[in-house]
Amino acid sequence: MATVRLDQKSRAIVRLISDSYINALANYFGSGPTDISAARMQHRAYADALSSNGVEVTTLEADQNHPDCVFVEDQAVVIDGHVLLPVPGHESRRGEQPPIADFLSHHLKGHQICKMEPPAMMDGGDILRLGDLFFVGRSTRTNDDGISELKDLLDHLGHELRVVDIPSGALHLTSISSTPTDNIILAPEGYLAPEAFGVMPDGCEVIMIPEEEVYGCNTIGLPGNKVIIAEGYPTVKKTLEDRGLECIILDMEQIRAADGSLTCCSIFY
Ligand code: GLY
Repeated sequence: MATVRLDQKSRAIVRLISDSYINALANYFGSGPTDISAARMQHRAYADALSSNGVEVTTLEADQNHPDCVFVEDQAVVIDGHVLLPVPGHESRRGEQPPIADFLSHHLKGHQICKMEPPAMMDGGDILRLGDLFFVGRSTRTNDDGISELKDLLDHLGHELRVVDIPSGALHLTSISSTPTDNIILAPEGYLAPEAFGVMPDGCEVIMIPEEEVYGCNTIGLPGNKVIIAEGYPTVKKTLEDRGLECIILDMEQIRAADGSLTCCSIFY
């Protein structure tokens, strides 16, 4: 999940892949998963990569009625321990939320739990955090009412929010960008201009990646100068290694087939 700073990445939830995963939505990077066993193996490697790098991982059961349930990032937005439960932007995904909401409400007692109501809608995958600066994608899944509810929470917490318009060829803001550290944004040429993120705070930069590596722009930065990246994106890898980061490389082929990226499969809390 892209809404926590590096120093807040100690615990995460993931969710097992549904038996119905073959029917997951796939309209951007993928044309649909073809091999559930491979998907499950890749997902296990993902959870292992998080836990072997110091993240305490809780795995929730799959929901067989929801093919996309592995993509937990969309279902809850955790900011400094407070939770915004969005109205997911695709009708078919709204029933995925209850067990995630229950888990977070239980583990984050004492924090605010805000529940969005329609017509507002938002997918957690549209939110990106760079240090204490936030970006939200205005997309087919996230509308202005949703953005306004997120802004209310961020105003309350004292964080700035900037809106980025997502091009029609992309699902979410985090489908095409990420913050591998608290001062770097990776973004793809041909999808976003660096100016889309506004003036960067001192010490921060937007690094543009060639368009053909758009999928590789989604990464998960971890404490200790480590970053999880998808296999097959050499420019992303070199760019991050040149900045002193150690890359942990994962095969995401069957996750990508359902338009899922690395950050989609976890919520840090
Ligand atoms: N397959 C992920 C999504 O479209 O939400």
